[in-house]
Amino acid sequence: MYINPSWRILTIGDGDLSFSLALKKNHQPTLLTATIFDSLATLTTKYGAENYQQLCDLHCQVLTEFDVTDPLTWGDLNHQQFDLIIFQFPLIPAFGSQQQFQQQQVGVNTLNRRLLRQFLLNSHNHFLDPNGQQLCVITSKDVKPYREWNVENSLALNSELNYLGSMPFDAANFPGYQVRNVDRDKFVKDTQGISYFWSTKPTIENPLTSQLTPPQYIGDHYCAMCRVGPFGTAQDQLIHQSSKRHRRMAGFEQLWLNDLNP
Ligand SMILES: C[S@@+](CC[C@H](N)C(=O)[O-])C[C@H]1O[C@@H](n2cnc3c(N)ncnc32)[C@H](O)[C@@H]1O
Repeated sequence: MYINPSWRILTIGDGDLSFSLALKKNHQPTLLTATIFDSLATLTTKYGAENYQQLCDLHCQVLTEFDVTDPLTWGDLNHQQFDLIIFQFPLIPAFGSQQQFQQQQVGVNTLNRRLLRQFLLNSHNHFLDPNGQQLCVITSKDVKPYREWNVENSLALNSELNYLGSMPFDAANFPGYQVRNVDRDKFVKDTQGISYFWSTKPTIENPLTSQLTPPQYIGDHYCAMCRVGPFGTAQDQLIHQSSKRHRRMAGFEQLWLNDLNP
């Protein structure tokens, strides 16, 4: 992930704070505010408070119990002062019980898309400096269930955000960063991450632009949500559209569109 040291950065949902600490130590951004969803007591029990303490010692603001979807939890945050907002490996928290799970009106795929969309919209409306670079990044994995969120095409629909492109996430640039499983004291399986970038600006200056792979699979001869194509013939396209993979993705997509336009 490209980091310009002049950027003012906000991190969201940073499990054990190891990403924010690695970012601070290795890239020295002008300003870093780190946030976690957990309380300080829960953080301490799950992972220990060492990263928290080190960030405080390095004069970083750390906000706990910060829910990116809920303005009531944003407390002391100085709004609209950031150039870049990062959410590494987002995932909705596990349900407290089977009963809680069954009470959900929508599926887990839609709930995760809701979380990511709210992250993008709230970043744009509340956290990004209108005069800054206006960048939001989500790093995720290109395996199920994450790839079924159609991150590149579905999250910023009908918004002012433009999807700019992606780049591989190279953990070697963040020594000390340990990707954590949601709600559990475990590491996420070490699968290659991809960082996806959005901005209200249609183009962003170099060197970021030159490192981004722009959106692929655009146009009639591709299936953007399944990320396949170009199809050689109309028959190939029809065969893809009747495949189990496409029908599953199309089902998720329809549920998401229903959720956006109830
Ligand atoms: C798979 S973990 C990744 C943790 C960390 N970002 C990392 O890279 O190790 C997903 C994270 O998303 C956070 N999260 C889930 N819902 C959230 C929300 N509404 N607001 C902020 N963070 C949230 C969880 O607390 C959890 O830390």
